[in-house]
Amino acid sequence: MNLTELIERFPSDEGLCNQPRPYFNHSIEMKSVFTAAERAEVLESVGLNVFYFPSEMITGCDLLSDSGTTAMTNEQWAALHLGDESYGSNKGYFMLADQIRETFGEAFFSSPGGGGPNAFIFHQGRPSEDALFNILSRVGSGMVIPSNGHFDTTQANIEANNIQALNLFAPELKNHDSDFHFKGNINIERLKGLLEKESDRVPVVFITITNNTGGGQPVSLANIAEASEIAHSYDIPIFFDACRFAENAWFIKQYEKGYENKYVWDIVKEMFSYVDGFTMSFKKDGLSNMGGGLFLREDGYFIRRYPDIPDALFNYQVMKEGHPTYGGLAGREIMALVVGLRTVTQEKYLTHRVNQVQMFGQAMVERGIPILTPAGGHAIYLDVNEFFQGTSLEPGDFAGISFTALLLAGYGHRACELGNFALGSYDEETGKTRLPEVNFVRFAIPRLRYERQDLDSVVEAVQSLHKNRDKIPAVEVTHGRELSLRHFKARFKFRAGKGKQK
Ligand code: F0G
Repeated sequence: MNLTELIERFPSDEGLCNQPRPYFNHSIEMKSVFTAAERAEVLESVGLNVFYFPSEMITGCDLLSDSGTTAMTNEQWAALHLGDESYGSNKGYFMLADQIRETFGEAFFSSPGGGGPNAFIFHQGRPSEDALFNILSRVGSGMVIPSNGHFDTTQANIEANNIQALNLFAPELKNHDSDFHFKGNINIERLKGLLEKESDRVPVVFITITNNTGGGQPVSLANIAEASEIAHSYDIPIFFDACRFAENAWFIKQYEKGYENKYVWDIVKEMFSYVDGFTMSFKKDGLSNMGGGLFLREDGYFIRRYPDIPDALFNYQVMKEGHPTYGGLAGREIMALVVGLRTVTQEKYLTHRVNQVQMFGQAMVERGIPILTPAGGHAIYLDVNEFFQGTSLEPGDFAGISFTALLLAGYGHRACELGNFALGSYDEETGKTRLPEVNFVRFAIPRLRYERQDLDSVVEAVQSLHKNRDKIPAVEVTHGRELSLRHFKARFKFRAGKGKQK
């Protein structure tokens, strides 16, 4: 008997609970040593605002964002050296064009020199959004852009251009008992209702994949297809905010009937076949530390409806970012991005990536910590209202801010409040806080950066805070409660005596 025959008598390695990571450490960075007291002093000096806490002092996991925080592969580091820093038409630009066509579809990057301009590279996601909404705002007034969930800076860019941003969350998102896997879907009934009444106000429909504001939840292909059909029946174009397109495709493969045997890259192509354009921050599923873009389908509903916009975008890009063939990126960054896009749809990478997030969520659930379930693809969202149930803390006490301050100072892990403070606003007339529909603290997992042991230590820290939640005090806002994008600017201090067990 030879070895190949012999190993067939054993259960396959796929059945084992612990799968090795599909990569090994290529280069590592030693962390500095800091005590909780040192962290507390510094965090207090920046008004408990975790964005201003020096990352060098983070001894645990930095889960503030999964954006631009990926550890690059050795192929990406090697690609940096191949960057061509020419001003016009650098080598990487042509490679990126090929890769965009290969990943998303031929129609999203006309061959350079041929066709009209339909692909615009930016230095990150939000300038590509600003370019789109700025130019769109010139074609009319009183417009509204519906979405399954606009990201906060996307919403801010829409509103800064005098357009209304409208979130049509799926009804399942708020139902904690539902184990529906596509809670990121756009609410089809509300979309239909909006278009029946006010289709002339809607220049474009947006679908964010995955739905970051809506708990990082994926969107199903059925939902994408239906939203696209409805929008197109009114001649309205539909776009993706495509930051986490590969993770979304992984969920479709796992949970949507009929897709279990398809390749992720084919699912990606099918997803993008329904849209007329997309904005993307390559800092997420571009596996890059920088980069963004805006891509319009050749001959899609958008270009047909707004034939002058591509040229206006071209001018905008030249004025704000640089020549369209580098678009605010160094040639070397473009090279790393090309390799990142090639890597991100590999199933072994994606399976490890999403499973790591799922296992982190599962460990929280097993310890009785209330999180949004099923877990999404890039982050775990703590349900702040449930976490603090039984304490006397009220929505205006911003318990999520207290939580993130204690987690960072006490345990060395950084998470981000995305709830009553970040997504709420202060009404100067009534003196009241307008509360958002969701109240989360988000633990965003950087790609390829941490191991299970790191994340397990976060779970233990959160459990410890949960056990002691009646000792967590309220915060008061000492600066910035009335400001826009206030979570980036505000300062807080703990309020003595508020937050005891009811
Ligand atoms: N759209 C979504 C869905 C995002 O999550 C982000 C960024 C952007 C657009 C903007 O992209 O940062 O490159 O300008 N999200 C990060 C986060 C910041 O932490 O979730 P950007």
